[in-house]
Amino acid sequence: MPTTTRQWLLNGHPRGRPIDIANDFRLATTELPDPGPGQMLLKTLYLGFDPAQKGWMENIADYVAPMAIGDVMRGSGICEVVASNGGRFAVGDLVFGTTGWTEYLVSDGKELTRVETTLPPTAVLSVLGTTGLTAWCGLFKVGKPVAGDTVLVSGAAGATGSIVGQLAKIAGCRAIGIAGGQEKCDWLVREAGYDGAIDYKAGSVRDQIKELCPRGVDVIYDNVGGKILNDMLSQIATGARVVICGGISRYETGTLPAGPENYFNLVFRRGTMAGFIVLDWASEFPAIRKRLEAFVKDGRLTYQEDIQHGFENAPATLQRLFSGQNRGKQMLRL
Ligand SMILES: NC(=O)c1ccc[n+]([C@@H]2O[C@H](COP(=O)([O-])OP(=O)(O)OC[C@H]3O[C@@H](n4cnc5c(N)ncnc54)[C@H](OP(=O)(O)O)[C@@H]3O)[C@@H](O)[C@H]2O)c1
Repeated sequence: MPTTTRQWLLNGHPRGRPIDIANDFRLATTELPDPGPGQMLLKTLYLGFDPAQKGWMENIADYVAPMAIGDVMRGSGICEVVASNGGRFAVGDLVFGTTGWTEYLVSDGKELTRVETTLPPTAVLSVLGTTGLTAWCGLFKVGKPVAGDTVLVSGAAGATGSIVGQLAKIAGCRAIGIAGGQEKCDWLVREAGYDGAIDYKAGSVRDQIKELCPRGVDVIYDNVGGKILNDMLSQIATGARVVICGGISRYETGTLPAGPENYFNLVFRRGTMAGFIVLDWASEFPAIRKRLEAFVKDGRLTYQEDIQHGFENAPATLQRLFSGQNRGKQMLRL
């Protein structure tokens, strides 16, 4: 049994700037206590990465507890139970939840869930994890698409965006995605079932939306914010629903962008714009996971995972999300 563990600790708050992987984290070796009554020793197998982790490092997100310098970096993971002192899971069980960037941890497992899926276990961090749940809740609970609607998604080739487009198709909608680069746009149409794709790095996004959505956009699912949100707002249809899921284009900047000039189209088109935090539907997650798993099993939903390797690479793996290097859900295998 290990008596120590390596951990990545927070060493800087990257406010108003990109993450500095050399200085914002510190690799430490820490003593592991013996599991007390009801506790288990867990070995981390995979970590999952989310753009929101940068906001947690900055302490700008008020839906999670603040992080202090020296805290174990917060993040999701899949662990194996390697020893138990009467804990709620059995030795050999795989569990997932907010485990943090640590190779081993001692836990009572109260906040963790057993991995119970017929898909590969990593699915609990991707299509069945926060990613798939965010796609589902943002689209169906906030966007409320009906068959025949045109759904326009930014960040479409990312983990969340690629699932949103496929769920929109399952709901009988037309799905158009916006992503960075020709390769991602080709993937959207060929593999992820989108009806059309717009490369925001090539040409006018606004003109391309007009061309691909001539009757306007009924549901916008925005992961990016800034100029792309403004361009999307230029082409909304009457009664449009604008879902604000994320705003990754500003996560590395010091100031919030000016409000989108085209917001007044919400008045002309009688539209609504709403943000959400997926955790608000936590009580429904088990049921939604079952629906997502069934879609994967019957071949209607595909998902992509980008698995990097080596615990020492955790900071660099997080940074991949902000440079668009990830292809699907970003994970790390320890
Ligand atoms: N509201 C909620 O409860 C909730 C929950 C989870 C996630 N989210 C949000 O959902 C969004 C997607 O998260 P994810 O985990 O699925 O990540 P992801 O989309 O797999 O990865 C991030 C992607 O964002 C794009 N990007 C990065 N910088 C950009 C920029 N400056 N402008 C335009 N695009 C940029 C990159 O794709 P390109 O190559 O296409 O640029 C990158 O691959 C994020 O905004 C996240 O904060 C919200």
